[in-house]
Amino acid sequence: MDRVPFFDLKRQYAQLKGELIPAIKSVMEKTAFSGGEFTSLFEKEFAAYCGVQYARGLNSGTSALHLALLALGIGPGDEVIVPSHTFIASAWGISYVGAKPVFVDCLPDTWEIDPKAVEDAITKKTRAIICVHLYGVPSDLGALKKIAKKRNLFIIEDCAQAHGALYKNVKVGGIGDIGCFSFYPSKNLGAFGEAGAIVTNDKALAERVGKLRSHGEKEKYSHEMVGYNMRMDGIQAAVLSVKLRYLDAWNKRKAQIAKKYRDGTTNPAVTLQVIPRDVTPAYHLFVVTTPNRQKFIEHLKSRGIDTALHYPVPCHLQKAYASLRYKRGGLLNTEYIADHCVSLPLFPEMTDREVNQVIQAVNSYV
Ligand SMILES: Cc1ncc(COP(=O)(O)O)c(C=O)c1O
Repeated sequence: MDRVPFFDLKRQYAQLKGELIPAIKSVMEKTAFSGGEFTSLFEKEFAAYCGVQYARGLNSGTSALHLALLALGIGPGDEVIVPSHTFIASAWGISYVGAKPVFVDCLPDTWEIDPKAVEDAITKKTRAIICVHLYGVPSDLGALKKIAKKRNLFIIEDCAQAHGALYKNVKVGGIGDIGCFSFYPSKNLGAFGEAGAIVTNDKALAERVGKLRSHGEKEKYSHEMVGYNMRMDGIQAAVLSVKLRYLDAWNKRKAQIAKKYRDGTTNPAVTLQVIPRDVTPAYHLFVVTTPNRQKFIEHLKSRGIDTALHYPVPCHLQKAYASLRYKRGGLLNTEYIADHCVSLPLFPEMTDREVNQVIQAVNSYV
């Protein structure tokens, strides 16, 4: 029996080596290592890909969220609403700027942020909503934008898992006020190290992020604000420019695999994420829930299938946020998913044979 890995980046590298090595070499030859021409070029390409006017390359998705909040002027005394069912970095930026994260529940079927829970969590201190297009499935941006408009709030899209996903045929990232991307190696579009970006149609916002990432500089050695060192590396940018050309094909192949999983899964013990009608996901992870997770994982393992968990401890129950005094039982949908979720293998280079092996293993579980 062959083993089906959860994820295998070596296959992608083997396919693109012929383009990636010369791209990295040209950065070395031009010694454009930090920011510089390769980063500027990737910013232009990525903004065009996302259908927005501006992109700024950064050193991680975590920095993107941090600088987005700073650029929007959010700070001490402010509250920012964020789903608890996400990777913890969705919330870090709120804490970095001295604001308070307000964790809300997700919907029981789509597992995306619940707009009603958002509305209920708004106080006089609320300044922004961070919506996370988790697993590559866009949140209900229509409902969130209505709430944001009525209550005068910013929308920050955490697109770390959703490069190329569509909400009502529009790419995510430019639908809210600012979109934050991660190019962590395992993401839909992954660098050869750490990298991230913000995208926006707001020129002033893009310029503020541009200064904040580079020591608050407008011109060399003239520092207008307390800034950071969060620029994107030239090597990462060159790698991303090459890989961006393949992103749509990879997303397409992953959607095909996800469809095979959806059509092929007949086991009543396994629940799939419901995909809203008006979105086209950029599948990042294929997550299911099942009542007895450990038994399911062991069954898959015995059939050669590797799995992972995204995410077993919700943000509101993390020790890092104990001071906020959330209790188990407060965000029921989030807690249910955390206790019962299992991620199946999903990457574009998976063979049909591997996909069928996963489906057979899922369906033979009792
Ligand atoms: C939803 C989400 N937000 C933010 C991040 C942070 O991105 P990075 O790892 O590039 O800092 C990640 C990925 O790690 C993520 O999955």
